Amino acid sequence: MLKISGSITKEEDFKLSLSIIILAAGQGKRMNSDKPKVLNLLAGKSLLTHVCETATKIEHREIYIVYGCGGEQVRDSLKNSQVTWVKQKEQLGTGHAVQQVLPSIPKTDDILILYGDVPLINETSLTKLVKAAADTGFSLLTAYFDEPYGYGRIVRDSSDNIVAITEEKDATEEEQSICEVNAGFMVIKSEILNSWINSLNNKNKQNEYYLTDVVAMAVKDNIKVSPVLAESVIEVQGINTRAQLSEAERYYQIVQAYRLMDEGVGISDPSRFDLRGELEIGSDNEIDVNVVMEGRLKLGNNISIAPNCLIKDTIIGDNVKIFANSVIENSVIGNDCRIGPFARIRPDSILDNHVHVGNFVEIKKSSLGKRTKANHLSYIGDAEIGNDTNIGAGVITCNYDGANKHKTSIGDNVFVGSDAQLIAPVRIGDGSTIAAGATITKNVGSSSLAISRAEQKSVPNWERPKKK
Ligand code: UD1
Ligand code: MG
Repeated sequence: MLKISGSITKEEDFKLSLSIIILAAGQGKRMNSDKPKVLNLLAGKSLLTHVCETATKIEHREIYIVYGCGGEQVRDSLKNSQVTWVKQKEQLGTGHAVQQVLPSIPKTDDILILYGDVPLINETSLTKLVKAAADTGFSLLTAYFDEPYGYGRIVRDSSDNIVAITEEKDATEEEQSICEVNAGFMVIKSEILNSWINSLNNKNKQNEYYLTDVVAMAVKDNIKVSPVLAESVIEVQGINTRAQLSEAERYYQIVQAYRLMDEGVGISDPSRFDLRGELEIGSDNEIDVNVVMEGRLKLGNNISIAPNCLIKDTIIGDNVKIFANSVIENSVIGNDCRIGPFARIRPDSILDNHVHVGNFVEIKKSSLGKRTKANHLSYIGDAEIGNDTNIGAGVITCNYDGANKHKTSIGDNVFVGSDAQLIAPVRIGDGSTIAAGATITKNVGSSSLAISRAEQKSVPNWERPKKK
């Protein structure tokens, strides 16, 4: 155990000897999916990441994650975290899962056990749980559910002491009517848990080694189980089915939406707002319905986002209007820009201030200078465009020759007429004009007109063919 120069208080001493176990080896049969359950996403982060991040906030010595189903995939999902992985080769139950880790944990530690499929647990409840175990050596988090179906029920005696946890499938009708459930979190002294763990058996309806059976063992050994009531019901909601996942997601989103509204963000309908990541946002912003934000976002002030937009990993300046059905990814948008409706800004694009990007315009890995406009039906890829340039309707930068990508460079104050194709690599100098319909294959100097057009012919008195 870590000791620091005798100045440490008793409580700190206690916390530093806390080991945390997260159980994450199960397949999650009730999800009907090949994906390991704990890798399902809630607000853009895996269930396991949520639990692991909360665990990290509790002062601890070490976090152990028991993995099995989904093997390396599960480990890879947290490859930058400081955790110790312990493999459970066969998923024989939560008690068996804990058994795999115990030999690695010092007998002097306290052990906090968390379930990887209960993602919204909060730090406050866990801290209370850790403290509650200080007296008796065993604390358990419980909650009251109106519909407790599926959870282990907390059985109490006539003096209100916890005497057992009975799993749904093994519960009598009377036990099934109990509304107090096992949240799936407990703290037990390692030494005590070690003395019980090998006595668990799988004589139950699921033929599993239930961790929850240690409660009855505690009673036998006269060890009192200290109950701690969860702060809210949602934080202990287990995710076993897709319906439970979607309920938890909506709850989480609504909480986020109300927090943002409290901070001054206008959200038209909190039940149609989704933030799957981190948002830093200024003031006087308005977000209309069905806007999805993902990854890391930094938004300035006075921005309006119309319905049905997806914005991911992007920085947006002030006074920007994003019209309906636009998609923006991994880009930087300056001040006073107008984007959409139906615009697509793909990764690595940079729009300077006052840029307009209109409907059905796709921009990829390109920069557009100040006041430049591309208002209709264009593809701009691998291009560098200067200031005050106008890109006409239907202009295409032909950046791909079937094997390699090439760059287009367009200077300041250029007028690119409608339906022009710029065959990259190509450069257009400042102040030039590209005639509508031109196919530009050679560089164009500055202040020039480039035109490539077959001469127009008119055939007078032309008679159209007639239907036979
Ligand atoms: C469990 C509890 C139940 C509690 C509920 C709370 C047991 C026996 N039951 O039931 O009392 O009310 O959680 O959500 O503990 N896991 C392993 N290895 C295994 C089996 C499971 O690592 O062999 C992991 C799973 O990946 C999951 C967690 O343990 O993260 C819980 O397992 P799950 O099958 O979801 O248990 P529940 O039926 O929800
Ligand atoms: Mg579960």
